Amino acid sequence: MEFPHLQKQDPEVYELVKQEERKQQYKLSMIPSENFSSPAVREALASVFVHKYAEGYPRKRYYEGNQFADNLEELCQKRAKQAFSLPDDWHVNVQPLAGANSNLAVYNALLEPGDTILSMYLPDGGHLSHGWSFPEQDEQGLEGQVEQSIYLGGKRKISIVSKIFKVVQYKVERDTRLFDYDKIRTFAGEYRPKMIISGGTAYPREINYEALAAIAKDVGAYYLADIAHEAGLVAAGANKSPIGKADVVTFTTHKTIRGPRGAVILCRSDIADKIDFGVFPGLQGGPFEHTIAALAVCFKEACTPAFRDYAFQVVKNAQRLAQRLMEKGYDVVSGGTDKHLVLIDMRSKNLSGRNPAKALDQAGIIMNRNSVPNETGSPMNPSGLRMGTPTITTRGMKEPEMDQIAEWVDRVVQLVAPYCERKPAEFEEKIKGMPELQSIAAEVESLCRKYPLTM
Ligand SMILES: Cc1ncc(COP(=O)(O)O)c(C=O)c1O
Repeated sequence: MEFPHLQKQDPEVYELVKQEERKQQYKLSMIPSENFSSPAVREALASVFVHKYAEGYPRKRYYEGNQFADNLEELCQKRAKQAFSLPDDWHVNVQPLAGANSNLAVYNALLEPGDTILSMYLPDGGHLSHGWSFPEQDEQGLEGQVEQSIYLGGKRKISIVSKIFKVVQYKVERDTRLFDYDKIRTFAGEYRPKMIISGGTAYPREINYEALAAIAKDVGAYYLADIAHEAGLVAAGANKSPIGKADVVTFTTHKTIRGPRGAVILCRSDIADKIDFGVFPGLQGGPFEHTIAALAVCFKEACTPAFRDYAFQVVKNAQRLAQRLMEKGYDVVSGGTDKHLVLIDMRSKNLSGRNPAKALDQAGIIMNRNSVPNETGSPMNPSGLRMGTPTITTRGMKEPEMDQIAEWVDRVVQLVAPYCERKPAEFEEKIKGMPELQSIAAEVESLCRKYPLTM
């Protein structure tokens, strides 16, 4: 994309944009929650809809001049329904500004302060917007401070969700690192939540939506399925859909579905008015109509055969990467993946996630440190490494490139393992300019040049 006005008027910001562009073009971005949107999506995002205030909903706005914003939002809703094959008795709200807001809006619509939420334990891969508090004041060494299968919350409330609601969290099993749905059923019976939430940031397996829907029904709770990560896979049929099983589904629009940053709520029609009211006026002001324009483009793209192929390839690539890493002796959490992300527990290599992630970045491969089940580390230095295939698949990479990436990851880890015990600053000093890392970065760059991004 050209930015002639920006270049002339504000060279400082222009240069930062260009630096970010070069990084995205010549490094492998493997953060699972990121993706590269199409130029058409970004053109819509940069359109004049950014200027329009449109508080309210189509045909029911508080300001004048919304005839085109109304048409746009209705078009976006229609396309969202198509992309997710929404049943006639389901409703869509495309206004949430981000994923965390979409979840807050759902709580705002359906819960009262003090109600109990049963959600996934954050260090096992849950999300902050499903509630989180620390067991003690100290953030170090969670393990041993919490019971094995259930976490009742601690004194230090981190997420506003934990300040407003009582949040109880189910954990994965210690050995399988998977959910035991019978245990979740028992906890639901015991704690009588008003809402059960599934979904997270690092659980590599598909969720049993039927089981959670049945549990929620039995205890009289709403069931919210947050598919922020999997939305594109669900739209394409590469992962199962919670629509029609959960009462409400939320998702961010910038991850596997490859749209602009934003979020959407899907729900049963009988609670649609509550949900809409929970978003506006309950939580937000004016919707971002420029985002809605970009979202409409994204949903059109998501209905194409090319997007379907893309989503299936995302999963195939992640599975291949997991397989190759396991062959190299890495402890892939849950023994593989059903989706776009792979989580490795680095303790099997006597390492944590932080320093290897720093070294990989130097080598041109961007992944993130992450907590893992049975975590013994801290939030700033957790034991895992999380990687995803959405962006590299957008570039057109397939299984042979996954084999190559697994090789590079292993080479980097072996190279820096002897120094990983060092303090972060010392470690970074040690690896700065390390010729072997630079040579891998050059190999990475030449692979990226073979699969260029349309900027
Ligand atoms: C499961 C889940 N829910 C909600 C969110 C929050 O999304 P946002 O960053 O847009 O607020 C995320 C973000 O990563 C997520 O993974």
